[in-house]
Amino acid sequence: MYTLARELLFKLSPETSHELSIDLIGAGGRMGLNGLFNKAPASLPVKVMGLEFANPVGLAAGLDKNGDAIDGFAQLGFGFVEIGTVTPRPQPGNPKPRLFRLPEAEAIINRMGFNNHGVDHLLQRVQAAKYRGVLGINIGKNFDTPVERAVDDYLICLDKVYANASYVTVNVSSPNTPGLRSLQFGDSLKQLLEALQLRQEDLTQLHGKRVPLAIKIAPDMTDEETVQVANALVETGMDAVIATNTTLGREGVKGLDHADEAGGLSGAPVRDKSTHIVSVLAAELAGRLPIIAVGGITEGKHAAEKIAAGASLVQIYSGFIYKGPALIREAVDAIAGLPKKA
Ligand SMILES: Cc1cc2nc3c(=O)[nH]c(=O)nc-3n(C[C@H](O)[C@H](O)[C@H](O)COP(=O)(O)O)c2cc1C
Repeated sequence: MYTLARELLFKLSPETSHELSIDLIGAGGRMGLNGLFNKAPASLPVKVMGLEFANPVGLAAGLDKNGDAIDGFAQLGFGFVEIGTVTPRPQPGNPKPRLFRLPEAEAIINRMGFNNHGVDHLLQRVQAAKYRGVLGINIGKNFDTPVERAVDDYLICLDKVYANASYVTVNVSSPNTPGLRSLQFGDSLKQLLEALQLRQEDLTQLHGKRVPLAIKIAPDMTDEETVQVANALVETGMDAVIATNTTLGREGVKGLDHADEAGGLSGAPVRDKSTHIVSVLAAELAGRLPIIAVGGITEGKHAAEKIAAGASLVQIYSGFIYKGPALIREAVDAIAGLPKKA
């Protein structure tokens, strides 16, 4: 079924096909139809960050940036859905074209630049959704907010989404917002995380519920940098780490059409780099903080590899574009087949 849909969708420009897919998945969700087209994955409940997940395979951020198709994605069988990245104010993102398929490598290059309708629109969409499973809301900064004031944007978004999110992801790893990735290092990271943690305490009191904070990091880090991030997350009381975002590297795509486009590379070529980061984090964290692994899952066994490397949950973006919703079931089955951890 998806093979046919993909053939039609891939005839359109990547961005038109993206918009059409969101519309169709959203409409299917509103009519409760999506479950009919895709056999539900096996039930594989897991508890992570104090939250109950229907299964450990989630939708990664960036596909439903505005929360327009939450019910639709949930009905396809994802165990959790992450929407965003959302910024305080709406913004158009980078000029088009800004999204490129590299089908020979099962890869995507994007430089979308946080195009989104702003946090108020997203909240309306969340409130209109019927989905009651785990919903992550991924927050970022507007492109014209100076990076020294990035914390203001994250706090605005955190305040607004807190009551409606199961967990909030702090995205400091998009390569398409100048300066953003500098927030992953040293004092900038500590100051940001401390401010977020303090606000999380206030909001816990205000709303009578503690919403976990996850930090999403890039794959383009040395082991030493990864260890430093892990320690900063523990010291500042963060609840989870999401590894990883897209890579600036071009290993695995050299010579292919679009390989030299600027932006972040995702899909199969980022898989090993991303899993390596998960392993380094797992060794350093030793269970003190759960890891959500994302990057290059295009077959069920890749999801199992991420769990074996130390992740508690996985997410998928590019693999979903290339393989469709059957990949969710395949990933759940592969994870279910792993030997139980002691
Ligand atoms: C077109 C596109 C847009 C993305 N937008 C976001 C985003 O807004 N926020 C974010 O945290 N990650 C974003 N990502 C990164 C994905 O969530 C994911 O971390 C990355 O693509 C690696 O996973 P994959 O290989 O399964 O795609 C985006 C990825 C793609 C391909």
